[in-house]
Order: sequence, then structure tokens, then C-alpha cells
Amino acid sequence: MKFTKERFKTFKNVFDNFTSRTLFKLASQGHFEEPIRPVSIGKESNVFSAKKGRNRVIIKIYRLEACDFNGMYNYIKYDPRFLHLKPSRRKVIFAWVQREFRNLMKAREGGVRVPTPITFLNNILVEEYIGDKYPAPKLKDSTPENLHNFWQEILENLKKLHKAGLVHADMSHFNILNHNEKPVLIDFSQCTPLSNPNSHEYLERDVRNICNYMKRLGLKLDKEEVLQDITVP
Ligand SMILES: Nc1ncnc2c1ncn2[C@@H]1O[C@H](COP(=O)(O)OP(=O)(O)OP(=O)(O)O)[C@@H](O)[C@H]1O
Ligand SMILES: [Mg+2]
Repeated sequence: MKFTKERFKTFKNVFDNFTSRTLFKLASQGHFEEPIRPVSIGKESNVFSAKKGRNRVIIKIYRLEACDFNGMYNYIKYDPRFLHLKPSRRKVIFAWVQREFRNLMKAREGGVRVPTPITFLNNILVEEYIGDKYPAPKLKDSTPENLHNFWQEILENLKKLHKAGLVHADMSHFNILNHNEKPVLIDFSQCTPLSNPNSHEYLERDVRNICNYMKRLGLKLDKEEVLQDITVP
């Protein structure tokens, strides 16, 4: 369906003017088609899906007014890639989106199973849709049939991410999708290089979170061993 100014008005009923214009621009560039369909409404971002030809894409939109930009700033300012960032609301949110894009790109180059990033503009990120008819369920809602294999795949992905020089920093059963019994890691907005002074603390927390969950499902795991496995080449 053609993307006209008339149809742009439908965005305006839902999003602020700035976000509508950004969405319109991305759609005009051919990154997706209308309508966009809600997938998840979060505290700071809303996730939508839309068609692109025969495929779908995911559109993650950070809400300009709702974001805790002070919290974001205090977090991102330790990222060596953003040391000169000024604490202005829009700049911080746009940097956050750019960071998520770059993280996904780097993770993907390192062979980690993540949604392929497609593009970003201002407060909006477009990435590969993981799922079939419906978006793939989160690990928390879809216990793998073969726990051992699923865990081994998570571990392989975490090793590759570490090898790529990154730590996810928000790793949990909420940010792993179970796509046809294979894990896909998502939500890379907090992910940061190992050169971040807090990276080891984040890695330990990631390992603790995911190990605790897998143990709850019945696996026998030793956190120290897992940490060792991830960090020692
Ligand atoms: N590429 C994707 N394919 C399918 N579903 C996705 C994809 N990305 C996100 N989702 C769905 O949208 C939900 C929210 O996405 P995500 O975890 O990236 O945002 P969030 O937790 O709201 O973000 P943040 O914590 O950065 O504010 C996910 O839990 C998942 O259900
Ligand atoms: Mg999430």
C-alpha cells in the first residue's frame, strides 16, 4: 500500500509529532509498510512489527517523554564510545538507540544469534523480526523442550559475545527469545564494551541471572564455572 501524507496522519494520533515524522521518513525510505502493529509496550520503549514485502520487521520506538534520561545518561557515560555525550534528553535517547544498533551489529559480526539491525533514526530502531506468524516467545514464557541443548546454545552465544568484546548487561529470561527451540538474544540497549570499567560487574550479574533461571528450570550449573567458560578463551 502506498505511503501517503494522508496515511501519515494515522501515526499522528498515536505518536508525538517528532516520532511521527521519523516513522514517516523511515517508511518513505522503504524500511517498512503500514500498518504498524504493537508487539510490546514497555516502560521506556514500545515495540511494533510491520510488513516489508513478504517479511516483517521490528520497530523499537523510545518514548521521548517517558524515558528516564538521567538514568540513561548515568549509565551510558561510562561507555567508552560515548564519553563526550552531553546530558540533554534528546541527545541521550538518540545515543541510546545508536548504541543498540552498533551493539547488534557487532554481536552479529561475532556470530551471536541476535536480530539483524536494519537501520536507526533519532529515537527509532528497525531490526529483523524474530518469529513466524507471531513474534517468538520469550524464554520466560516458553520453556525449551531440551533444556540442556538450549542452555549450551545460550552459553555458546555468550562466549561469542564476550569474544566480540561486549557484555550484554541486561541478560535474563526476558531478553532471550525461544525461536523454534533456538535461543535468540535481544534488547542490546545496555550492552557495553569490555573496556567499560563496570563490565566485569555486569558480566557477573548476567551470568548470575541466567544461571539462576536455568537452575530453577532444573539444570545443574556452577556460576563460577560458567563465568570461567565465558571469559577464558
Ligand atoms: N526482534 C524481535 N523479534 C520479535 N520480538 C521482539 C523483537 N525485539 C523485541 N521483541 C519483543 O518485544 C519485547 C520488548 O523488546 P525489548 O526487550 O527489546 O525492549 P524493552 O525490554 O522494552 O526494552 P528496554 O529494556 O531497553 O526498555 C521483547 O520482550 C519481545 O517480546
Ligand atoms: Mg527487554
